[in-house]
Amino acid sequence: MLICNSSKGYGAIPQAIHWLTVILVVVAWTLGLLGDELPKGTQRDAGLFVHISAGLAVIILLVVRLAWNFFNPPPSAGSTTLGIWLVRAGHAAHYLLCVLLFAVPVAGIVLQFARGDSIALFGLFEIASPWVKDRAFSGNIEEVHEVLAHTLMIVAGLHAAAALIHHWILRDQTLARMLPRFGE
Ligand code: HEM
Ligand code: HEM
Repeated sequence: MLICNSSKGYGAIPQAIHWLTVILVVVAWTLGLLGDELPKGTQRDAGLFVHISAGLAVIILLVVRLAWNFFNPPPSAGSTTLGIWLVRAGHAAHYLLCVLLFAVPVAGIVLQFARGDSIALFGLFEIASPWVKDRAFSGNIEEVHEVLAHTLMIVAGLHAAAALIHHWILRDQTLARMLPRFGE
């Protein structure tokens, strides 16, 4: 299996980045929603730590993905029976997903700092908040973070549904190009 993208499909590394991002986003979103249900203290702190670590990893993977795409562009979209507008909609969805993959964690970082709390970078070292706690601002930014996170999940859901429609209804290679081709 090829490491890099080719005209036939996504390479192993771009595929790994894609599917790892999917896992991290789902973990971050689930922990974001369930965080308040965890008992206060060590468990809730651990949940927030994993939530933040997954979110920070999403930004790192996004930067790696964009750099990778610059030097080794993804395969161009195959033609579909539904015409050029569908290809354009797919591209628009990818851009929107990338914008949200950046905006959601950045809003999370601003939220954490607005609460006056530090961010532990994967437990390696801490970045102290540059601000003092601001309840009103952190309340507003929490709402922004939440709405952006839900928007990301909705767009990702539509994007996943489109991939399945390509596979099961249009019966083209769109999804297969993003899946490992063992034995090649
Ligand atoms: C893709 C990445 C992320 C997703 C999908 C995500 C999603 C969410 C969601 C759905 C909530 C619940 C909001 C609510 O009910 O009020 C939340 C809360 C929160 N998020 Fe994120 N988040 C991400 C990344 C981050 C990052 C990178 C940080 C900080 C560095 C962060 C910090 C927080 C904080 C502090 C809360 C409030 C937790 C609480 O009070 O229980 N998030 N997030
Ligand atoms: C949080 C969830 C997801 C996010 C954030 C996401 C994001 C992206 C992004 C940004 C791309 C553009 C290509 C790239 O630069 O790597 C892409 C491509 C792709 N994704 Fe997703 N994705 C998600 C979930 C899924 C799921 C669940 C599926 C399958 C059911 C899927 C199938 C695909 C396929 C087939 C492509 C390639 C499309 C093409 O060749 O034009 N994605 N995804």
